[in-house]
Amino acid sequence: MIEIAVLGFGTVGSGVVELIDNNQEWIRRSVPEGIHVKYILDIREFPNSPYADRVVHNIDLITEDPEVKIVCETMGGKEPAFTFSRKALESGKSVCTSNKELVEALGTELMLTAKQNGMSYLFEASVGGGIPILRPLRNSLVQEEITTIGGILNGTTNYILTKMEQEGAAFDDVLKIAQEKGYAERNPEADVEGYDCGRKIAILASLATGRKADYDEIPCEGITKIAAPDFAYAKAIGRAVKLLGIARKLGDGSWSVRTAPFLVPKEHPLYPVSGVFNAVFVHGTMVDDLMFYGRGAGKNPTASAVVSDVVELAMHIGVPLRSAWNEEKLTLANSDLECHRFYIRAAAEKAPALQAAFSSLEQIDLGGQGGPETAAFVTDEISERTFAQCLGEIEVQNVIRLL
Ligand SMILES: NC(=O)c1ccc[n+]([C@@H]2O[C@H](COP(=O)([O-])OP(=O)(O)OC[C@H]3O[C@@H](n4cnc5c(N)ncnc54)[C@H](OP(=O)(O)O)[C@@H]3O)[C@@H](O)[C@H]2O)c1
Repeated sequence: MIEIAVLGFGTVGSGVVELIDNNQEWIRRSVPEGIHVKYILDIREFPNSPYADRVVHNIDLITEDPEVKIVCETMGGKEPAFTFSRKALESGKSVCTSNKELVEALGTELMLTAKQNGMSYLFEASVGGGIPILRPLRNSLVQEEITTIGGILNGTTNYILTKMEQEGAAFDDVLKIAQEKGYAERNPEADVEGYDCGRKIAILASLATGRKADYDEIPCEGITKIAAPDFAYAKAIGRAVKLLGIARKLGDGSWSVRTAPFLVPKEHPLYPVSGVFNAVFVHGTMVDDLMFYGRGAGKNPTASAVVSDVVELAMHIGVPLRSAWNEEKLTLANSDLECHRFYIRAAAEKAPALQAAFSSLEQIDLGGQGGPETAAFVTDEISERTFAQCLGEIEVQNVIRLL
């Protein structure tokens, strides 16, 4: 048996422990000796759990036990997750995690620690929950030059946007339903302001380029300004509103990375992705377009991704796996020069000012169904800087980029 330890017996951690027990038969096809959870580290006791006898509270018990070969960190947050992960790597254990916050902020350091100690650090579950995306990037797509990666990376916001679109409901009302259903956290800021999506696109951009994309430098907008009329105007031009994290290689070789709502056209594979589902779109110069679709969160899907790392680590004991990226920083393109078409929604009385400010503006016709008080337009493809200059002081209700 290969002995492992799980740090954090919450939603994901308990899923990992159960999955390893329940799916041992399938795991043994790849790891014939089997995998066994020897320790579960948590702050609390779990007296009613069938795993109560494995619960410990001191990380040293795990790091000092030579039988433990793999540690799964499913606690979340930066500390003590970072300290515990580093300690495990330094003690000769490989580590895997679902903790995107830690991977984005300190993953480079942990990969370096892993390398220095002949160990591996994997984090399949940190992006896209149950969707296998990081392993395909590390294995099946190593030969590809990736030029676009990203997509719908946050199930909470995709659920909210889908409900708003289908039911014409207001953002605050749908957020409340999402919280009641457990799709959104009590403090939804990280989801609705786009921070969670931003961390995930930083991880994907780092993987695609092999250099570290810095989350703090990635322009980030959430969905709080999206309102019912935006869906009607989007539909009128054959598009849907989606919060995307997108990284693109530009003509000059630099990378643009951004989190923002986009109007996605019907022909694009991301268009029909709705509800809590996530999808990651990849373009490689040889393989062309790919899309990876599935549940971006939840106990079982996320645990499945963590256990896929455990199995890979168990198959490579004593064989360190290549780091996902190196310490070199990915320099991002000047976002002011990035070009897009922009959708603008404004009070109808602002229409003449907008038409005078932009050299070319296409008005969106709702076929008489929109009220007389609002107007919406689409610009030509222009740079972010030109857009800001043209818009100047004109007050508008919302602006969304077109994909
Ligand atoms: N849930 C998902 O669907 C999902 C999907 C993808 C990724 N993730 C990521 O996976 C990680 C875990 O998420 P989760 O939803 O499983 O969180 P969770 O349910 O809150 O579980 C975390 C567990 O770790 C325990 N813990 C916290 N600090 C600890 C410490 N210092 N020592 C020992 N145990 C400690 C917590 O105990 P207390 O409850 O007592 O604090 C809790 O039992 C997060 O990074 C999250 O972003 C989650």
